[in-house]
Amino acid sequence: MNKDIEKIIISEEDIKTRVEQLGRRITEDFKGKNLLLLCILKGSVVFFGDLMRKIDLPCEIDFIKASSYGDYTQSSGIVKLQYDVSTDISKYDILVIEDIYESGNTLKSLMTYLEAHNPKSLSLCLLFIKDCKHDAAFKPDYFGFNVPNEFVVGYGLDYAQKYRNLPYVGVLKEEIYNK
Ligand code: IMP
Ligand code: MG
Repeated sequence: MNKDIEKIIISEEDIKTRVEQLGRRITEDFKGKNLLLLCILKGSVVFFGDLMRKIDLPCEIDFIKASSYGDYTQSSGIVKLQYDVSTDISKYDILVIEDIYESGNTLKSLMTYLEAHNPKSLSLCLLFIKDCKHDAAFKPDYFGFNVPNEFVVGYGLDYAQKYRNLPYVGVLKEEIYNK
């Protein structure tokens, strides 16, 4: 897989350090709360697994699947959410764990959906924010890195469902997209 990568944007080591810092801050902030960590599938799964083990608090975990129809590198703006509706959201202080923010469509749909179910509190932990135009009002509670306005893969992020298992974040070689 490494041979398909043009350049590394964020190293495995830098991600690890940042995830540890985020875990410590979340541990401080959610003491005494009924914390539910909500993983947005599939892209956040790697971050989620690492981050939850750096949070030193009793908590529950849950998963929601968000997908947008579109081609491989461009989102269509239409977001589909799949969730187990048996979870009583109103019991929890929810921390949403998301991989990357680009247009904001995914998070807008998701946060609107969650707010409508009256959680005790709703917070957002975002690992990557793409360096492009976004809503000025947008502000995550916890945040990892800015990434350049390029299509990136690794650490959960895919191209055509592949490369999620790379331990770092990088940009693919041009020839991969033209295959
Ligand atoms: P948004 O809805 O435009 O904010 O896009 C967010 C979703 O698109 C993320 O949850 C990712 O699944 C996907 N995405 C956005 N940018 C990238 C990228 O550079 N690489 C891989 N997936 C991306
Ligand atoms: Mg995603």
